[in-house]
Amino acid sequence: MGTIRRQDLIAEALKARKRAVAPYSQFQVGAALLTAVGRIIHGANVESASYGLTCCAERIALFKALTEGEKSFTAIAVVARAPGGPMPCGACRQLLAEYAPEARVFIADSAQPTRIKTFRVKNLLPGAFLKSALPQ
Ligand code: THU
Repeated sequence: MGTIRRQDLIAEALKARKRAVAPYSQFQVGAALLTAVGRIIHGANVESASYGLTCCAERIALFKALTEGEKSFTAIAVVARAPGGPMPCGACRQLLAEYAPEARVFIADSAQPTRIKTFRVKNLLPGAFLKSALPQ
């Protein structure tokens, strides 16, 4: 498999977004998580009539990957129809900081997918609460 470029991962997130289940917000989000060995795992947001049970696209992708045995992640792309693209919420930043601190984060507006912002997970949540803080 060749090197996956950020525009390729954004294209995967656009595909993932088609599976969003967002009947309440109509805000469809797609995510594509890239593993160290080049596997791509899709995620999309899933909403509930009990609104607070909603799960973001980023966490769906991460939970899918972890429960399929993936442990090492190099990047995640996230897209939605939002000016400048959707920045991950605090809950997703926490989970990503725990399981993929070094991963790049590519963000784009789904209507302008060539305009990509790049971050690194660990920089999106400075001072994250990590397992190292827990008693041994
Ligand atoms: N959402 C995501 O999936 N990811 C984000 O980064 C921001 C928010 C979802 C949750 C909810 O289904 C909808 O977008 C509106 O908040």
